[in-house]
Amino acid sequence: MTDRDGAIEAPRPAAADLAAWGHLARLADQAQPAALANLLRDSARNGALRTDAAGILFDFSRQHVDLQILGALLALAEERRWEARREALFAGEAVNTSEGTPALHTALRAPAADQPEAAAQVVPATRQRLMAFTESIRDGRRTGHSGRAFQRVIHIGIGGSQLGPELVTEALRSADCPLSFRFVANIDGHAIADALADADPETTLFIVVSKSFTTLETLANAATARNWLLERTNQREAVAAQFVAVTARTEAAADWGLRPENIFPLWDWVGGRFSLWSAVGAPVALGLGKAGFEALLDGAHAMDRHFREAPAAANAPLLAALIDIWNTNFLGIANHAVLPYDHRLRRLPAYLQQLETESNGKSTRHDGSATGVHTVPVIWGGEGTTGQHAFHQLLHQGTRAFSADFILTGADGHQPPRPELADQHRWLLANGLGQGQAMALGWPHEDPHRAAPGNHGTNTLVLDRLDARSLGALLAFYEHRVFCQGLIWDINSFDQWGVEFGKRLAETLFDQLGRSSAPAKGTLGPDAATQALVSHLREINAPATAKEDGNDLSHQ
Ligand code: F6P
Repeated sequence: MTDRDGAIEAPRPAAADLAAWGHLARLADQAQPAALANLLRDSARNGALRTDAAGILFDFSRQHVDLQILGALLALAEERRWEARREALFAGEAVNTSEGTPALHTALRAPAADQPEAAAQVVPATRQRLMAFTESIRDGRRTGHSGRAFQRVIHIGIGGSQLGPELVTEALRSADCPLSFRFVANIDGHAIADALADADPETTLFIVVSKSFTTLETLANAATARNWLLERTNQREAVAAQFVAVTARTEAAADWGLRPENIFPLWDWVGGRFSLWSAVGAPVALGLGKAGFEALLDGAHAMDRHFREAPAAANAPLLAALIDIWNTNFLGIANHAVLPYDHRLRRLPAYLQQLETESNGKSTRHDGSATGVHTVPVIWGGEGTTGQHAFHQLLHQGTRAFSADFILTGADGHQPPRPELADQHRWLLANGLGQGQAMALGWPHEDPHRAAPGNHGTNTLVLDRLDARSLGALLAFYEHRVFCQGLIWDINSFDQWGVEFGKRLAETLFDQLGRSSAPAKGTLGPDAATQALVSHLREINAPATAKEDGNDLSHQ
């Protein structure tokens, strides 16, 4: 690998071999007993453990860190040359080393003049096309095949081609938007059937999103949707008018039957889970309009600038990543809960689960050697306050160590404003703050059934208000946090070879579930336990399977 000046880089040491890592390990031995209640008495410390970034307050004063530990964590980032690695990301170097590609999601939201050449040649023109398309649907100039305005949008895609658009569209779509949205991801036919159940074939727009245009779930759901439309309209013209695609394999989408003007490109240098900012965000532009989509990009760009310009000690994504490293590698915490106290952000835990675990759920370094240390914890969570009446019991009195992010939004955002809704928002904030306090301080009680030990470290993120700009900034904050974790562990945050394996196994099992005689493909034949389950499922599905086999198993 070369550095930015073209010189061959010295091989990077494993994380545990860094001098700062050893220092942190020694501090962790001393820090274990430091109670949060004591740490929180130090106001100089508390003040240093919060920073503002693009309209978001990142407060980590409720974490098990003091200024000495913070200094050692910053030294770790320094030893990893985090600034050089960050600049390599923005400059479009091949940071995805196993696939030899850049990860230029930041270019999708940068002003054209700041985009690396590969992006500048295609991003502005594609954005312009997308905006023209989405605006023409919103104002009724572009209609379904019979001339009626669109009413429903069915977005078909999975993983990075679904979670971001779904999160943002559901969080921010204004009440006066005439379009309704359905997101279909699962191969389970109930998902597409639900989305189509009361849809009108004349007024439904389908957006098929797949970077690879090979994903089983997406292609199967798209084919079902196309058949549904053809059966009801009997016109190929309906498919041409009502299907669009977003993909890096534009020829494959054309072969599937889409017109070139209905295909929006993606590029190999955008990772699926980082692609919201491209035409993958089409539902956002449809739901919020051009200005809303641009505000989302502006907010993300403001966070990019913060990440590039703020010094390390005030750099929110870097600090958040360093706290994650401290919790994961030095305090042994193996799970992290995402707790948005805003109903509109209820899809955030699912979105972050993919972003963080698909990016950093790795055990191999860039050079192929083992990390030798743990990487990303299990990410999970759920919205407040409903989680308080369910899994918070485990958080307060269970045996597991955890860390958590509380996400609070300042203004209630209700339109029109109503005093009773403002009160409900105040209750929401009071609950979010109170839960964080309880997790830090615990609840001393003479009855051991009632006592809660506390001493659980959490972060608090406060958005001034939830809107397109602040949500863009929040998601970019998490993207950069993931990147910073990855650079400390020296892993590639931009590939996902692990998920490919499961896809190959399913191919063999699909055949075997259909035909008793189907041979096992390749070296991945089912083990005895799987084979027994295949037989059981064939038996309970006997009529359907027998049809494929050409004999009726139910009579055997
Ligand atoms: O299977 C995982 C994955 O490859 C994700 O990385 C990706 O976001 C998702 O599948 C969808 O992929 P595509 O956009 O190519 O259909």
